[in-house]
Amino acid sequence: MSDASVDWISSPAGALRGDVCVPGDKSISHRAVMFASLADGVSRITGFLEGEDTRATARAFVKMGVRIEAPGASERVVHGVGLHGLRAPETPIDCGNAGTGMRLLAGLLAGQQFDSTLIGDESLSRRPMGRVIEPLARMGANIVAQPGGLPPLQITGSQHLRGIDYTLPVASAQVKSAILLAGLHASGETRVAEPHPTRDYTERMLATFGWPIEFGAGWARLTGGHRLRATDVVVPADFSSAAFFVVAAILAPGSELRLQAVGMNPRRTGLLSALRAMGADIRLANARELGGEAVADLVVRHAPLHGIDVPPEIVADMIDEFPALFVAAAAARGITRISGAAELRVKESDRIAVMAKGLRTLGIDIEETPDGAVIHGGRIEAGEVDSAGDHRCAMSFAIAGLVARGPVRIGDCANVATSFPGFADLARRCGFQLDTA
Ligand code: S3P
Repeated sequence: MSDASVDWISSPAGALRGDVCVPGDKSISHRAVMFASLADGVSRITGFLEGEDTRATARAFVKMGVRIEAPGASERVVHGVGLHGLRAPETPIDCGNAGTGMRLLAGLLAGQQFDSTLIGDESLSRRPMGRVIEPLARMGANIVAQPGGLPPLQITGSQHLRGIDYTLPVASAQVKSAILLAGLHASGETRVAEPHPTRDYTERMLATFGWPIEFGAGWARLTGGHRLRATDVVVPADFSSAAFFVVAAILAPGSELRLQAVGMNPRRTGLLSALRAMGADIRLANARELGGEAVADLVVRHAPLHGIDVPPEIVADMIDEFPALFVAAAAARGITRISGAAELRVKESDRIAVMAKGLRTLGIDIEETPDGAVIHGGRIEAGEVDSAGDHRCAMSFAIAGLVARGPVRIGDCANVATSFPGFADLARRCGFQLDTA
């Protein structure tokens, strides 16, 4: 559990330089542990994200009888127990800060023969779970939430799940994945369709673990009753973690950074299109495949940015990158308009409100809208902001401090460890002046 008392001071600094390796992808790390746990045989995961979120998921499976060894940093050896081999957890499963952990586990646990309870930290306890409970209930699951569809979730096992044909009301890889995971234990076919295609790691990884599945942009279908075969997973560097360095290098004059072996799944890289449309100089080098995922090195140089209207059709492909984009827009010339991004209000924090409030404190003219913001680029001043315990807002405000006219004090930064342990050290190594207050 994070200590909520960590504040940072990010002060103006010069150019950023160097080669940066950011940690493994969070989405892939969660799923790798889940599928390896349910597989027959032993799987090795390399590049596993040693973040609090993904460790919480690993702990959940240990609690359900899976042996998981950590022979080295970012490595896990998972002794799979097979599709029906999980044991009832003796106490509630704590998903920490992780929406992905809780929603995917809800789908998976709905089809078990035992009861379970999922709990989370303060932020996760405010996040909507009705979006997974509703389709899972249609499949026959018995999940009881708190009023308003909030965690904890009480899941009663021994239900007979049936496949459904479900069109998601919001574009959400977590909801899609929860349904597909329930579909593993359901009779018949489970089919999902999305309003916009979202990250397809669940589909791709199920196929890698040998489960018959068909999928394309915005849809997937599978049938229950097969088995998962152990396999080794190589986790690429997390694009969303790389994004903070990408934006920082663009904004800090004289910078040149190379980010190595970053995951380039097209459902994740919408930020690159947005930044390029704003005038950024980002080149891809050494594009290749790593463990079945496209990766490339990103070479980023400083360039002046101008405002744009962010195309709503790329919102799902950059859903986690908006806090960083808010800062890029604040430092750009002209106006940036964001719309179609109401999902930002139900992330680890209400990211529209948290970023708007913080940037306003730093002298930026910014209007909130229900599903986005209108950001008037300007001079970022010194000041004191609150990350609201949201890892991505904290790291984004650190970029604001880098290019501000004076130090920016950022409150409540401990949760950066959920997705990016070591961010502060890495940032300092490439030129940030980032101190613990
Ligand atoms: C994730 C999906 C996204 C994203 C989150 C990770 C995943 O959430 O914001 O950080 O691993 O499936 P939604 O699917 O709710 O948009």
